[in-house]
Amino acid sequence: MAAFLRRLTSLVLLFLFVSFTDAREILVGGKTDAWKIPSSESDSLNKWAENSRFRIGDSLVWEYDGGKDSVLQVTKEAYASCNTSNPIAEHKDGKTNVKLEKSGPFYFISGAKGHCEQGQKLLVVVLSPRHRYNGISPASSPAEIEGPAIAPTSSAAALKAGFSVTLGVLVLGLF
Ligand SMILES: *[C@@H]1O[C@H](CO)[C@@H](O)[C@H](O)[C@H]1NC(C)=O
Repeated sequence: MAAFLRRLTSLVLLFLFVSFTDAREILVGGKTDAWKIPSSESDSLNKWAENSRFRIGDSLVWEYDGGKDSVLQVTKEAYASCNTSNPIAEHKDGKTNVKLEKSGPFYFISGAKGHCEQGQKLLVVVLSPRHRYNGISPASSPAEIEGPAIAPTSSAAALKAGFSVTLGVLVLGLF
């Protein structure tokens, strides 16, 4: 009985550890000054987003000059029309962190006048939970399959992942 409980505890701990370390902080655009009007289509944040994967629990991090710009989370309609008047959420602290709590699309536009119209916007699509366990699902778009499995802050995430696996092996060793 005691052995069973010990096993169960190990499993629960392992599960919690893996779940927690799985969440990542993803720097938008992969660099600090990326929240700005893109110089070209290929430089746009949506290009970057298409090549990244976002999962429930990940956080997006923006770094920008809070005196000049802001991050507005908006509806699909406001995103399309660059309507800054009634955002879902407004962030202008210069270091914005938004946790992606559910799957589906998230829409962000710049609150600086005229910036959204010139392409400073971001659409992030968070994969549904089953993707977490499948790796690549049959329904994945080509961009998902070709894109890096881990988004730009990946070295830290990869280290963490490696650490999880190591710890997992250690915990399983208790069995
Ligand atoms: C922007 O959105 C607000 C409410 O969300 C709406 O009242 C307003 O008419 C919209 N403006 C434009 C130009 O569409």
